[in-house]
Amino acid sequence: MTSPVDSPLVRAARRQDVPHTPVWFMRQAGRSLPEYRAIRQDVGMLESCRTPELVAEITLQPVRRHGVDAAILFSDIVVPLMAVGLDLDIVAGVGPVVAEPVRARSDLDRLPELAPEAVPDIAESVRLLVAELGATPLIGFAGAPFTLASYLVEGGPSKNHERTKALMHGDPQLWDDLCARLAQISLAFLRVQADHGASAVQLFDSWAGHLSRADYLRHVEPHSRAVLAGMAQSHPEVPRIHFGVGTGELLAPMADAGADVIGVDYRVSLADAVERTGGRYAVQGNLDPALLFAPWEPLERRVREIVEEGRAAPGHIFNLGHGVLPTTDPDVLTRVVELVHEVSVR
Ligand code: CP3
Repeated sequence: MTSPVDSPLVRAARRQDVPHTPVWFMRQAGRSLPEYRAIRQDVGMLESCRTPELVAEITLQPVRRHGVDAAILFSDIVVPLMAVGLDLDIVAGVGPVVAEPVRARSDLDRLPELAPEAVPDIAESVRLLVAELGATPLIGFAGAPFTLASYLVEGGPSKNHERTKALMHGDPQLWDDLCARLAQISLAFLRVQADHGASAVQLFDSWAGHLSRADYLRHVEPHSRAVLAGMAQSHPEVPRIHFGVGTGELLAPMADAGADVIGVDYRVSLADAVERTGGRYAVQGNLDPALLFAPWEPLERRVREIVEEGRAAPGHIFNLGHGVLPTTDPDVLTRVVELVHEVSVR
């Protein structure tokens, strides 16, 4: 393997043959690693996301430690919102908190378009990383319009997304205008990462699983489609992964929105995900992150099953069904990487 273009991750995303099943973990950088906790001790989350040397070091930590098949840029879905001037913070143990929620048409004025010049630090972080990573691909990412809108409208994390849904149904025109703006911001953020060398991108619609299929199709899908289509047009060589949690009923529309790879959480088997998406897409997933706390024997059994199911898919990238939990033993993650590589060797 000489370049990220020939890496197992990019090849699997394109449904080409691979020497072994590629594996990485959502939230592989973060609090499960003592070296991450040490480096973040005196630096705020958003500050660390905007300091290229810190971003590069934190992004590389899990690659060095676990030998995963990809790095994912250390950043956050709210970084581009911060870059356009929105007043927000990431509160430890809580998540993104927005000082003044976006609920009226006049609030859109606080959400201008994202120009690439507003995120020179992201370009620099990606440049540093691509130089260090060699043949290991870097995954860039952005939040999808619905998940970003949920934080903006609710003002922070939400269990029921009631204000978001009230806006979606109460003022569909304002909702569409808000999501169109967020789609521009997400697309611009992804393009900066791809322009500087990211080899794949993931669109995180983490909370889309809270929507009915009808609402997803009518109020959300067109905006996510705009992001994915924009990337397909400007960077056709960069595979697109589309992920959400609890999206068993949405897998087909999310894949058809313009993805190469559909993210699958642990609630749906990979075999069912392949069937629901017509066998046309690579799949990513889907070990339950809580199983990393179980004894090795049942964990190993489950990892082997997932690898086996993945072999029947058009392409498979091994991952968790959602992010690494902060109290996960990192040695278990390393062992899972070794096991996936060992049992999937072609
Ligand atoms: O390793 C990686 O996966 C890359 C880094 C990454 C972070 N956030 C770092 C982070 C990625 C891909 C994200 C995306 C993100 N951010 C999503 C989509 C992914 C998902 O989990 O569904 C969402 C919904 C957010 C919003 C957000 N930011 C949440 C819910 C939290 C957790 C709050 C907490 O403290 O539990 C954050 C903060 C955050 N983003 C942390 C990290 C490592 C924790 C901050 C810390 O270490 O203090």
